[in-house]
Amino acid sequence: MPPFAVIPGAQVQRALQGRERGIVDLVEATYRLHGGGETVNPPSYFLRFPDRPSSRIIALPASLGGRTPVDGLKWISSFPENVASGIPRASAVLILNDPATGYPFACLESSIISATRTAASAALAAHRLSSGRPRPARVGFVGTGLIARYIHTYLTATGWSFEQTGVYDVSARSAAGFRDYLEQSQAADRITVHDGAEQLIRSSDLVVFATVAAEPHITDPTWFTHHPLVLHISLRDLAPGIVLDSVNIVDDTEHCLKAGTSPHLAEQHTGRRDFLAGTLDDVLAGRVAVPGDRTVVFSPFGLGVLDLAVGAFVHDEVARSGELNVIDDFFHELRRHG
Ligand SMILES: NC(=O)c1ccc[n+]([C@@H]2O[C@H](COP(=O)([O-])OP(=O)(O)OC[C@H]3O[C@@H](n4cnc5c(N)ncnc54)[C@H](O)[C@@H]3O)[C@@H](O)[C@H]2O)c1
Repeated sequence: MPPFAVIPGAQVQRALQGRERGIVDLVEATYRLHGGGETVNPPSYFLRFPDRPSSRIIALPASLGGRTPVDGLKWISSFPENVASGIPRASAVLILNDPATGYPFACLESSIISATRTAASAALAAHRLSSGRPRPARVGFVGTGLIARYIHTYLTATGWSFEQTGVYDVSARSAAGFRDYLEQSQAADRITVHDGAEQLIRSSDLVVFATVAAEPHITDPTWFTHHPLVLHISLRDLAPGIVLDSVNIVDDTEHCLKAGTSPHLAEQHTGRRDFLAGTLDDVLAGRVAVPGDRTVVFSPFGLGVLDLAVGAFVHDEVARSGELNVIDDFFHELRRHG
């Protein structure tokens, strides 16, 4: 009888807590598998609604090879209006499938897994893409929701400390909430809440975009003349001119040049792709060197294989602890002819 388990958010959180360095290593190994052709990661499918244009649900099917293969699907909703009613924008489940039989064997709460893999990828990129420059000591967050919090947690848990932390959000409530989190985490010496993005960008060596902007709102290339490292997690903040002025690293070229991302707009603007320097895997493998004296922009589209890797880790941890919540007889029609 194929087993089927349900793993709620509290178990997911417990399995991941305090494991930040290990998760960054896992995400790095997964990028290497992906770069080495040992994954299948088709384009994400965007379900959109004519009557609810700001909302979407994305399907990310994927298959991860390597020593412990697993297949699966992340199904993640983004409803930005949720925030006004006091619940997070994103909600998600992750289904893990057995690569031998195809049977689903687990359903995991996945907003935590998704935020975790995104933050681990950002911390990995910050580390690797800054190796040719003085370690950034002034960080700035544009957009300060749940993803910004996870990224800050992952940066500090993997050895980063900052002399100065800049905060900007169009919502004063979000900025205040993030400031409270920073103060409680005691990881920031000096916190400045800005009333616009310009001063934050000009005074940061590491800039994190985690907004829900649908179109570029950062258009002036002179804000970047000090050549910061930019983690462009929300993908649609930068005008094409800023992308074209920068060294661009993506997670996957085909994925990232889609869905109206800033690199996609830059491609449409120029008819070229040569403004992309390479993928994070190219950097990890030493095929691409990242200059220390240019603005570097990391735009990760977000790969389903990362969710699978982190989800399988969580499943195995919960199983090891003996607390796996197996739903007995979930699959019922198991004799073909009755
Ligand atoms: N690339 C990836 O792999 C990946 C993975 C997960 C999430 N994301 C993206 O990260 C972003 C943030 O997600 P979240 O869950 O933290 O959302 P959230 O709704 O919790 O927070 C987003 C914040 O951005 C603010 N904001 C919106 N427009 C802004 C602007 N122009 N300037 C400054 N602030 C602005 C909002 O007020 C809000 O506080 C989303 O765009 C999401 O799609 C990317």
